[in-house]
Parts: sequence; structure tokens; C-alpha cells
Amino acid sequence: MSNPLIHPNITDAMRETVARKAAAVVDLLTGAASEFQPIAFASSMGAEDMVLTDLIRQHGISIEIFTLDTGRLPTETYDLMARAEKHYGARPVTWFPRHEAVERYVLEQGINAFYESVELRKACCAMRKVEPLERALAGKKAWVTGMRAQQSATRADLPLRELDESRGIVKFNPLSDWTEREVWVYIHTHGVPYNELHERFYPSIGCQPCTRAISPGEDIRAGRWWWENPESKECGLHVKTD
Ligand code: ADX
Ligand code: SF4
Repeated sequence: MSNPLIHPNITDAMRETVARKAAAVVDLLTGAASEFQPIAFASSMGAEDMVLTDLIRQHGISIEIFTLDTGRLPTETYDLMARAEKHYGARPVTWFPRHEAVERYVLEQGINAFYESVELRKACCAMRKVEPLERALAGKKAWVTGMRAQQSATRADLPLRELDESRGIVKFNPLSDWTEREVWVYIHTHGVPYNELHERFYPSIGCQPCTRAISPGEDIRAGRWWWENPESKECGLHVKTD
């Protein structure tokens, strides 16, 4: 069964709205790139990130694109990386965890220790995602994410531009006011490559062992760290200080 949420009925009005919003994102990103250099966009290869990748590549905006490869990503995400590389004729910069840290964690805690406690799960995210993110952002004046306000209660007041206080640099969330439907209208209108897992009811995709499909009516992020309480579902990439 294909997923109707990612195949919306596309009307002319919807196409126009998305074109207008996409033009606003191009303006925002172009302005960001002239105000801040170097600037980088963090792509997890999710649907929102593919929209931003398309806008940055098609409009030749000088923003570096990077991805954090935790080593535990789903096969379908690696397949998308390969397809996107062919589609755009370019690769993102890929950052990996420090191998010594992974080796120590696996030896001391076990290969799937993240299921055992929130503490061990956060330690895994810290080593596989957050530490590489710090290296990816070192020396950058600003960064860009694919987050949307509607993705969760914790993102409800997500601004287009904010100060990332923990890193002391500016952070842009250009798709903050986009709906999930608008993301998919853009993807289909522009033939943007996307993760096959979205067809199988995975709206939010992270590492393979920590992501599952959702059922109709469930929260968009219900499939992330599904065994934990909603309040602990933070990987540390987007720390809020207020
Ligand atoms: S997370 O904090 O729960 O992992 P989510 O998957 O919703 O975040 O993604 C939100 C944004 O964080 C993405 O649009 C992207 O900008 C950034 N991000 C998340 N995971 C990665 C990754 N593996 N590599 C690069 N950027 C990422
Ligand atoms: Fe580790 Fe899971 Fe976090 Fe990936 S999402 S870094 S496997 S705990």
C-alpha cells in the first residue's frame, strides 16, 4: 500500500503556494550565505532536507551540505545517498563518529546498549551524532536545518532564524512554517529523490535500530526511540537553552 500522506492531491493553488514559499526560502538562504561565510546545512536526508538540498543545488547557493553518518543508518538511507549523488552530480561532506569512541562503547556496553537505558541511548547519540556535529560546525558562522514547527510540540515556536546559544552561531530553519503536505508537493513537482522508507509510513527517519514506522493518527515522531517517554526523545543536535 502506498502512503497517501506523501502523495497528496496536487491542485494549482497548492502548487502556487509552494512555489511562493520556495522562492522565500531561496531569498532567505541567499541572504544567509551572503551574510555568513562559511555556512553549512545539516542534512539527515529526510524529506525536508531533500527539499533544502534541491533548492541549494538548483540555485547554486553557496552553502556547504553535510551529513552525519552514525554508522547505524538504514540501508534505504544509504540507497538515497547514492541516488541523490547521481541526481545532483555532487556529494555532501560526510562526517563519521570517532572510531575509538565507538569501539570503547561497544566493548564496554554492547552493540545495542541504547535499548537498555535513556542514559546509554543518549551516550550513543552523543558519540555517533553530536560530537561529529561539533566537528562539522567548527569554524562555521551559521548553520541551516530542515526542522519544521509542526514536527513536534517542542518545535512549535521554531523561528526562521535564531541564535544557537550553545554554539554561539546563527541557526536558520527555513522550512519552519511549511506543512508536511507542502514538503511533498515540492518533492513531486520537482522530481526530488526521497527515502523509500517514507512510502512505508516512516515520516521521521534516524538510525535503523531507533526508528520504526508509525500507525495512522500517531505523532510524526512517534517512531523515533519509540520505547522511551516522549520527554526524553532528544538526541542533542538541537539543544534549547531557554
Ligand atoms: S533529531 O534531532 O530528532 O535527530 P530530526 O531527525 O527531526 O532531528 O532532524 C531535524 C534536523 O536535524 C534535520 O532536518 C537536519 O537538519 C538535522 N539532522 C538530523 N539528523 C542528522 C544527520 N544524521 N545528519 C545531518 N543532519 C541531521
Ligand atoms: Fe545510537 Fe540510536 Fe542515537 Fe543512532 S539514534 S546514535 S543508534 S542511540
